[in-house]
Amino acid sequence: MRSIITLDEFIIQKQKDFPFATGELSGLLRDIGLACKIISREVNKAGLADISGQAGIENSSGEEVQKLDVMADNLLISCLQNSGECCGIASEENTTFVPIKKSENAKYVVLFDPLDGSSNIDVNISIGTIFAIYRRVSDDGECQLEDFLQDGVEQVASGYVVYGSSTMLVYTTGKGVNGFTLDPSIGEFCLSHPDIRIPKEGKIYAINQSAYHKFDTGTKQFIDECMENGCNFRYVGSMVADVHRTLIRGGIFIYPSTTSSPNGKLRLLYECNPLSFIVEQAGGHSTNGRERIMELEATELHQRTPIYMGSPDMVKRVEEICGEMMKERS
Ligand code: AHG
Ligand code: MN
Ligand code: MN
Repeated sequence: MRSIITLDEFIIQKQKDFPFATGELSGLLRDIGLACKIISREVNKAGLADISGQAGIENSSGEEVQKLDVMADNLLISCLQNSGECCGIASEENTTFVPIKKSENAKYVVLFDPLDGSSNIDVNISIGTIFAIYRRVSDDGECQLEDFLQDGVEQVASGYVVYGSSTMLVYTTGKGVNGFTLDPSIGEFCLSHPDIRIPKEGKIYAINQSAYHKFDTGTKQFIDECMENGCNFRYVGSMVADVHRTLIRGGIFIYPSTTSSPNGKLRLLYECNPLSFIVEQAGGHSTNGRERIMELEATELHQRTPIYMGSPDMVKRVEEICGEMMKERS
């Protein structure tokens, strides 16, 4: 008996959860799934073809761009251009948003980090793709900046793909979180992790601890407590992989404010909001220490924010410590 449910079948089944759904969002999710299957194929042979290494350019945040960053970015853009459901995209790799002329009246915009953790490509460590989908707020015609600068709570769907020991796609449309593993023999994402729930408490913390001396006092105190409580430390250096482990095993992922980068490193629109939507939908929390990530006001496309996300009990402790620090200061 066949018991496999493919991503495409699942998306169509779930469309019934939305009474007025027209199938556009489903189409968009399927197109992103297709782009990520192609990225997965390319990532898997990175050591063979001449596609690893640096592209010789820097992105708008001044970071080295890898050849696979460019390839993944181009692939997602071309799949979304063909989809017809998307009027524009914004990507970590592009300075500004890109309107899609041939579907300029479409309802949705997509924001993505085409390849996350790209410094890990050349050493065969898990990397990922992150995406967020919003309903446009501008009138018909060419999309506008305001369509992309929406609060995270406005996301209609978000997800990530981790290219790890297997390739997995995890997504939410605001009704729980489901995970699919790519079966390369049939080229399909198959439901493998239905209704993912993050453990309430965790015993693993993930942070770039080499920068401890630059952390704010609240983060230092929290990390000290983690060590005193016998927590394990794990840090891949690819946010997607670290957050994926946090989701499945429980724990906390942190990229804090540091003395050299007061807003941290991670981008609100391409990394923090989409992964916060997933984590919250799985029962977790996500904050910058004072405010919920998904309620932060977005004022620019490449805005950064400190982030603490994961098991609710651990994130609540961070909030308590940050609250106490604020009181002491006032
Ligand atoms: P990207 O490759 O998309 O630029 O993102 C890299 C990010 C993120 O994946 C990871 O958590 C973080 O950079 C690691 O930064 P540090 O090396 O400063 O820890
Ligand atoms: Mn990234
Ligand atoms: Mn990236």
